[in-house]
Amino acid sequence: MTLHIAIDGPAGAGKSTVAQRVAKRLSIPYIDTGAMYRCVTWSALVKNISLQDEYLLAELAQSLSIKFVPNDQGQLIYLDGQNVTSAIRTSEIGALVSTIAAYPLVRKTLVVRQRKMVDESSGVVMDGRDIGTYVLPFAEVKVYLTASLETRARRRYEELILKGYTGTYEDVLHVIEQRDESDERRTASPLRKASDALLLDTTTLTIDEVVAIISSLCVTRQSRKRS
Ligand code: DC
Repeated sequence: MTLHIAIDGPAGAGKSTVAQRVAKRLSIPYIDTGAMYRCVTWSALVKNISLQDEYLLAELAQSLSIKFVPNDQGQLIYLDGQNVTSAIRTSEIGALVSTIAAYPLVRKTLVVRQRKMVDESSGVVMDGRDIGTYVLPFAEVKVYLTASLETRARRRYEELILKGYTGTYEDVLHVIEQRDESDERRTASPLRKASDALLLDTTTLTIDEVVAIISSLCVTRQSRKRS
């Protein structure tokens, strides 16, 4: 399948779970662009780079080796050869990443890398905040996934608890609310639904239902592409 599938939406809407499943079903790569912003954040902390220094952060974004390696559970993320799959998903990184993602120079650098990854593969599922609107405006399938704030916070909280998180649900809700606001208000490609994206509210849908809807949309678009 040579489709380009763009999945955008706010934190905790289920993008990465759904994107991984769709990619597996269609046997095409999945590119988690949020993980790339998280890698820059994590690496800046490890290397003691100021989170206020946009130029140094953009240089860092340029120099990092980020690899997505699919496995049975989903996919692993390697940063300069180190498995950072869990390290980049902590609440600490979650609270800092939107600051880094708001820097135009960091975004510009990562978007070039994202488009290059797409050029190197035939067909891709890519998720993030600006994929349908900016990174892949030509994507044949565009989906905007969302859910109520409370549902998204509960999902993220349950995910973090499994990883040993000791904070409260209210803390998670607060961080998500702040991230949504920062992602929606920033000037450099803010989070918004592309005009030609399908809006899917997942508050009352199961993952299987969402995957089925997107997969059938892909089949329709693919047959339209062929004819
Ligand atoms: O999807 P996520 O929670 O892993 O995203 C982490 C942060 O990166 C989030 O604050 C939004 C930002 N992001 C972005 O601005 N653009 C993208 N394409 C992907 C993520």
